[in-house]
Amino acid sequence: MKKYPIVIAIDGTSASGKSTNAKLVAKALGYVYVDTGAMYRTLAWHCLKKNVDVHDAKLVANACRRWKTDLCCVEKDGLRVVQLLVDGYFPEKEIRTPETAAAVAHVAAVPKVREWMKKTQRDCIQFGDLVMEGRDIGTNVFPETDYKFYLDATLAERSARRAADGVNENLAARDQRDSQRAVAPLMIALGAKVINNSAMTSEQTSKLLLEEIYNRFPAK
Ligand code: DC
Repeated sequence: MKKYPIVIAIDGTSASGKSTNAKLVAKALGYVYVDTGAMYRTLAWHCLKKNVDVHDAKLVANACRRWKTDLCCVEKDGLRVVQLLVDGYFPEKEIRTPETAAAVAHVAAVPKVREWMKKTQRDCIQFGDLVMEGRDIGTNVFPETDYKFYLDATLAERSARRAADGVNENLAARDQRDSQRAVAPLMIALGAKVINNSAMTSEQTSKLLLEEIYNRFPAK
């Protein structure tokens, strides 16, 4: 029997191609795309804007408890996308600045923040079948899903991809913080299909993902 709604969980390291491939898969299946990293970035941006010290877990947890947010689903480039609005605003550009990138791993390590994010991310199911990308979707947010994937590539390849996007970021440091935090660290979920796409194009990666997803669909 087909379980509704379906959640495709795509986790993995930074710059491992999660966003590109999650979008391709969501488009191919007609599912809603959810970028959970954007939600953590939005909280980091909000803290910076409100002068909340992102190194102080208590203050960050307070900010997270108080901020006024809404989930919405919008159509963007032929894809249905979930957005987390703060006071009715989606800070699309602001969450991609180097300042926000530097702050986000601190915010994402706060246990109360992860609790809030898990609940909010699970609420996305209201929009239908999902392709959700992040670090802990298969291990923590939707551990019950049968569709778990873990993308990775060599550090050199991932750094080159970020550099090609004009972003100079210490990926090794961010990976280490994401993997070593106490709550919901980045790790391979039980039953996840691991794909190292260092030598693969996104076309090849998304094709492999889709094949695996179709194989896992229950027989009608
Ligand atoms: O995927 P990204 O670079 O936009 O993620 C931003 C940060 O948020 C990154 O440091 C990892 C963290 N993150 C997380 O801890 N859990 C998620 N589900 C998604 C992102």
